[in-house]
Amino acid sequence: MYRTHTCGELRLADAGKTVTLSGWVQRTRDLGGMTFVDLRDRYGITQLSFNTERNKTLCDQANALGREFVVQATGAVKERESKNNNIPTGEIELIVTELKVLNSAKLPPFTIEDETDGGDELRMKYRYLDLRRPAVRSNFELRHRMAMEVRNYLSSQHFLEVETPVLIKSTPEGARDFVVPSRMNQGEFYALPQSPQTFKQLLMVAGFDRYFQIVKCFRDEDLRADRQPEFTQIDCELAFVEREDVLNTFEGMAKHLFKTILGREFHEPFQRMEYDDAMRSYGSDKPDLRFGMPFVELTEHAQGKGFKVFDEAELVVAIRAEGVAAWSRKQTDALIDFVKRPQIGSSGIVFVRWAEDGLKSTVDKFYSQEDLQGWAYATGMQKGDLVCILAGEQHKTRKQMNELRLHLGDLLGLRDPWTFKPLWVVNFPLLEKDEESGRWHAMHHPFTSPIPEHAHLLESDPGAVKANAYDLVINGTEIGGGSIRIHDRSMQEAMFRVLGFTDEDARYKFGFLMDAFEYGAPPHGGAAFGFDRWVSLFGGRSDIREFIAFPKNNAGRDTMIDAPSRIDEPQLKELGIGVTVNNK
Ligand code: AMO
Repeated sequence: MYRTHTCGELRLADAGKTVTLSGWVQRTRDLGGMTFVDLRDRYGITQLSFNTERNKTLCDQANALGREFVVQATGAVKERESKNNNIPTGEIELIVTELKVLNSAKLPPFTIEDETDGGDELRMKYRYLDLRRPAVRSNFELRHRMAMEVRNYLSSQHFLEVETPVLIKSTPEGARDFVVPSRMNQGEFYALPQSPQTFKQLLMVAGFDRYFQIVKCFRDEDLRADRQPEFTQIDCELAFVEREDVLNTFEGMAKHLFKTILGREFHEPFQRMEYDDAMRSYGSDKPDLRFGMPFVELTEHAQGKGFKVFDEAELVVAIRAEGVAAWSRKQTDALIDFVKRPQIGSSGIVFVRWAEDGLKSTVDKFYSQEDLQGWAYATGMQKGDLVCILAGEQHKTRKQMNELRLHLGDLLGLRDPWTFKPLWVVNFPLLEKDEESGRWHAMHHPFTSPIPEHAHLLESDPGAVKANAYDLVINGTEIGGGSIRIHDRSMQEAMFRVLGFTDEDARYKFGFLMDAFEYGAPPHGGAAFGFDRWVSLFGGRSDIREFIAFPKNNAGRDTMIDAPSRIDEPQLKELGIGVTVNNK
């Protein structure tokens, strides 16, 4: 037997017992005559104690242990003389009578401690060592508990967990597909699912009524802190539901998770916001409502006074930062530098401050005190506040202001990770136009239905149609989204026509779904939640990689196993894939 107990469970009440522990050497302290070894496993750390007087050979053996050696120790549990109140096993130690090295270890490339000296790259290359660090491991304990609670909740609501295939045909969710060549069908490819969207709809046609799956999805898209090429969704679908049924069901799930995982209760219904209002007031379809600072439009107030930047702008928009009128020139210049970065692309900020010496702006040349008072009134400005104004083309300016608002929120400490503001954003446009190609794209995906009162506009005025779609946003992160689906062949065909598919193309790609709609498809809808994002939100962090055991880096690589990698010529040939350039 390798162990009778774990390294986290022995207490004072166990004193006198003879036990065996196995684990990793966290550290060894040689105090000359006495040696202490901290032995670590997933459950905790227990101190092993050695003494030259008791047993010199054993003590020498202990002194020879290196960091991360795997050892087994047998001995008696004893009350410690100097106790450590910081760890649960801190009142006892093990007086070792037998020590066995199960495996030696090379010196790890970084310290296996919560505060490590390892940089990101090194930690990812040796991820199995990184995962030994308690702070990292606890992220996976959180992930596990959340998955259990999701299953508990959804099972209690009669959802069936069903697995859907991974080798499929393209399911468009707005990213590129990862594809897999077929050896048995040369020249043909499977696509990995961007989501199980079409399968879950087919399960509704099959009469499964309520489906869920905690499932890997694959999307070949540019990576960011909250995006990985393979990620996990809590994917759900329900038959015979309207939007309210879906929102209530998943608001219930969110509340269940908040309560069971974080001990937070939400007694009120989650806030709801129309997509148009979110864009107008926050310049984003996922506003962070932990703080205020809604946009105030000053276009009418600000034009016609000879200031060209405002006069030529489609939109002049302001936000009010409370209590920072005294910010220095250096601080406001830093804000200008922030919005001028190419990723944001603004040309500058006009400031109005209400300090001890009254209202002043950086465009005083053009505007009277009365004008400034008008702006102050419109923005709700108080003495001590600073108002920031951006101007330009509507869409771009709103996006820039969104970035500035979030940045100010960070600077002012208004984005506390332990404050949670959930929000449903509803009534998204069904379609958006790609300005370059002039083509319509589905904003969510092509299976989303229009809100019932807009269905008749689908082909005549596609841009005006609102989707029966919704997103769950928490603290400015899109946690999930879904919609009521089209369940009728002619409407689905019309949708594909609007998206520019030929009938033949639509049939080739999605004929199976449209055929199914002709065999008794019930009205249905659902949603999917980004599980990695949700776990990282509950873990108080923004980088989802911390909550994925073996994530990819920003170049889409797994540096530990060194993937993706080349494959051999014979394997390529077998798959019927073209010969590589280097082939002579
Ligand atoms: P959607 O594309 O909005 O909807 O995806 C659902 C949720 O998945 C998360 N997510 C991601 N998380 C990490 N990395 C990524 N690359 C990534 N992409 C998306 C987000 C997002 O809200 N089939 C539809 C759902 C439905 O209509 O039922 C879908 O996949 O949190």
